[in-house]
Amino acid sequence: AVKLTDSQKKLGVNLNYHVITYGCQANVRDGEVISGILEQMGYTFSDALSKADIIILNTCAIRENAEKRVLGVIGSLQSYKRKKPEMVVGICGCMPQQEQMAQNIVAKYPIVELMFGTHNISSLPTLLENVLTTRKRNIEVFSALGSIYEDLPSVRQFRHKAFVNIMDGCDKFCSYCIVPYTRGQQRSRRWEDILKEVKRLKEEGYQEITLLGQNVNAYGKDLDQGCTFADLLEKVSDTGIRRIRFTTSHPWDFDDRMIDIIAQRDNIMPFIHLPLQSGNDEILKLMNRRYTSKQYKELFDRIKEKIKDVAISTDIIVGFPNETEEQFSDTLKMVEYCQYDNAYSFVFSAREGTPAARIEDSVSLEEKKRRLQRLNERLGYYSKLNNKKWEGQVVEVLVDGFSKTNPEIMSGYTPQQKLVNFSYDNAQIGAIIYVKITQGMKNSLNGVQVHPGKENHEQY
Ligand code: SAH
Ligand code: SF4
Ligand code: F3S
Repeated sequence: AVKLTDSQKKLGVNLNYHVITYGCQANVRDGEVISGILEQMGYTFSDALSKADIIILNTCAIRENAEKRVLGVIGSLQSYKRKKPEMVVGICGCMPQQEQMAQNIVAKYPIVELMFGTHNISSLPTLLENVLTTRKRNIEVFSALGSIYEDLPSVRQFRHKAFVNIMDGCDKFCSYCIVPYTRGQQRSRRWEDILKEVKRLKEEGYQEITLLGQNVNAYGKDLDQGCTFADLLEKVSDTGIRRIRFTTSHPWDFDDRMIDIIAQRDNIMPFIHLPLQSGNDEILKLMNRRYTSKQYKELFDRIKEKIKDVAISTDIIVGFPNETEEQFSDTLKMVEYCQYDNAYSFVFSAREGTPAARIEDSVSLEEKKRRLQRLNERLGYYSKLNNKKWEGQVVEVLVDGFSKTNPEIMSGYTPQQKLVNFSYDNAQIGAIIYVKITQGMKNSLNGVQVHPGKENHEQY
């Protein structure tokens, strides 16, 4: 936990903050904690960048594009800083965890006065106080791995659904991936702490929690507490919270007991994100993914068979160094087999310091982009096909809010994590209601609110 000094608690009084988060849910959760710390320091959230006295960019390093975007934003903040020199620009998250990148930012962007890494979030009050009192740059990134933080304040994004970290870091070292370097070794939280957080959220009225980790199925393997991910799911399910989700699942650690528990428990949602990455065994090997296409298929089949109405999504990388047309076609074949509900697809991006970045590559970027398009065409075909299957059915939707363009439309998610836009007569944000699906499209469903209970009542 962070203990603020009296002076730190007053630093932000009458001042505004703004946090911009990029990347995965782990970063979103960190962003909520950063906001919580800033509010304890007296800062108030401001939507407008021009009104902010401190802007923090919570960054992602997963692909080059992600980093370029952030560097562009830092550049564009220069004009705000000129107009308001006392404004603080801070960089945190995964980008500064890479030594080269941290040095590059320090050298090229003098407006950045504050920088900290994913392990140093609790140092924020001290670092920021130093910047404000000395106006010297405060950079703290490479300190030792912190244990996962407990009891830090946070400002959660929603009041009805919440992210709950169950672990940080990753030990898998897929050959293309920067995450084990930016987030460090896998560190699981103790199950007692996780359960305490879930119970508190439930008491506060939360309907849904998402258990977060780079590889949730490996939960607990670094601890000596005799609690696997299957055990954790069981305990969390026992709290009775309405909806439980989890992400991301690595196929390697996904055992049958997990499948059984997901299948048995009504409050564990039938939706699994199961990254494939490639459908070709040689590429999978070079990626260090630890499974073959056959093993993936067998796992996929067991999940489909045991968990009723389960939806499965995936991640795929095209253009791993020297990937041949034939190897790529194995990925396409796998897509035809799995017919995913949803998928994220990426062109391989070389991340400095990873083994894959050192492989000399003979395939052009143009060819990789063509493959991505061909892949996306098939992925889109199947997501639409799967969504169309819901037409005419009545589904449960946890209501998130109003459509940005039309106040007569609200939106929310089904148990299978399908986004539904629906017209309503009596729906509240945070409630679970019934919607009859009228149309399935590639990325979402349309529907109308219905009241099945009432209809029955009227019939009798
Ligand atoms: N821990 C999660 C993934 C985190 S990164 C898992 O193992 O599934 C999210 C996705 O980004 C990955 O699944 C992968 O498809 C993609 N990705 C990661 N590194 C990449 C790189 N160097 N180039 C392109 N895509 C990458
Ligand atoms: Fe990266 Fe692989 Fe770990 Fe996922 S499992 S975070 S892809 S190293
Ligand atoms: Fe990006 Fe870091 Fe997440 S690199 S994907 S924000 S762990």
